[in-house]
Amino acid sequence: MHGGIEHKTSLLFVCLGNICRSPMAEGAFRAVAEARGLSCIVDSAGTASYHVGQRPDPRAVTIASLNGIDISGQSARQIERDDFFRFTHIIALDRANLEALRSRAPRNGTARLAMLMDEVDGRRGEPVPDPYYGETEAFEAAWQMITLGVEAWAERLLRESVRFRA
Ligand code: 4NP
Repeated sequence: MHGGIEHKTSLLFVCLGNICRSPMAEGAFRAVAEARGLSCIVDSAGTASYHVGQRPDPRAVTIASLNGIDISGQSARQIERDDFFRFTHIIALDRANLEALRSRAPRNGTARLAMLMDEVDGRRGEPVPDPYYGETEAFEAAWQMITLGVEAWAERLLRESVRFRA
């Protein structure tokens, strides 16, 4: 997939551990895409390796489940070089992870780097705070932001796909 050919839209959501925010974003985006008829490859990864192979944090699984989405089958992995070629968009959940992606991106990587909230009106660049050391409320707040963010991304990609088909 190296090279300049426009390939199928594919999104990789990235946080630090890939056990809280990016698994929620992956699950929430997949649900929105399915509901809106948006055909898209979706995955998530972490910039850190501490939790590789682990299931999402039980608090993330619970908040997703309360919203009708099952993320319990996901397994944490770390971002790798190929991701910068395999995905059309790599979407960071906060600024520190965006900077980590920028510093690791191969010079000829083709993925566009962005932040989750960039597509939400008036909230470009806003980070989704790390809920890991917080209480249930921190996971609820993260879920709210993630829902807004993934809906806005789906809207944008739907607009673009209509344009490409026209
Ligand atoms: P995440 O949350 O980046 O949203 O998955 C975290 C998970 C683990 C750690 C920090 C944040 N940690 O320090 O282990």
